Amino acid sequence: MERTLVILKPDCLQRGISGEIISRFEKKGLKIVAMKLSLISKEKASYHYDEHKAKPFFGELVGFITSSPVILMVVEGDDAIKMARKLSGATKAIDAEPGTIRGDFVMHTGQNVVHTSDGPESAKREIENFFAKEEIIEYTRNIDQWI
Ligand code: RTP
Ligand code: MG
Repeated sequence: MERTLVILKPDCLQRGISGEIISRFEKKGLKIVAMKLSLISKEKASYHYDEHKAKPFFGELVGFITSSPVILMVVEGDDAIKMARKLSGATKAIDAEPGTIRGDFVMHTGQNVVHTSDGPESAKREIENFFAKEEIIEYTRNIDQWI
């Protein structure tokens, strides 16, 4: 059982497609164990994107993710990290396959609707950056026996 961080980025809320994007993770069978609306601080954004610090687009990344509110979610399930990335789709807009979130909703790589953690270490680090332990809720769902 894994947990991963999902961010519905500012463009997602501005375009009014958050419900549809949340629904994709739910329908897949991933369990939402934490969720909140947040205006991310520059400090938290810089920490979140630390691996991209040396890249030329780092400033744009931090500027974009802090430009307007986001929805932060932790989702849980078997292989949740890879599952969430499959739903999200390829990074480059032109490579994202139809059926994925980015394939269906994204024209430009820099405004790509959703973030998902790329591995177990980053998932742990990213979740801890945005959520206190008590904000993550453990509960059972009866439907899990059917998923
Ligand atoms: P994310 O972290 O948002 O889930 O996206 P990702 O793993 O698919 O891609 P990553 O390599 O981590 O890049 C983070 C975000 O940086 C922007 N990006 N721009 N201009 C470019 O070539 C470029 N490459 C990446 C994207 O917005 C990407 O989501
Ligand atoms: Mg990434």
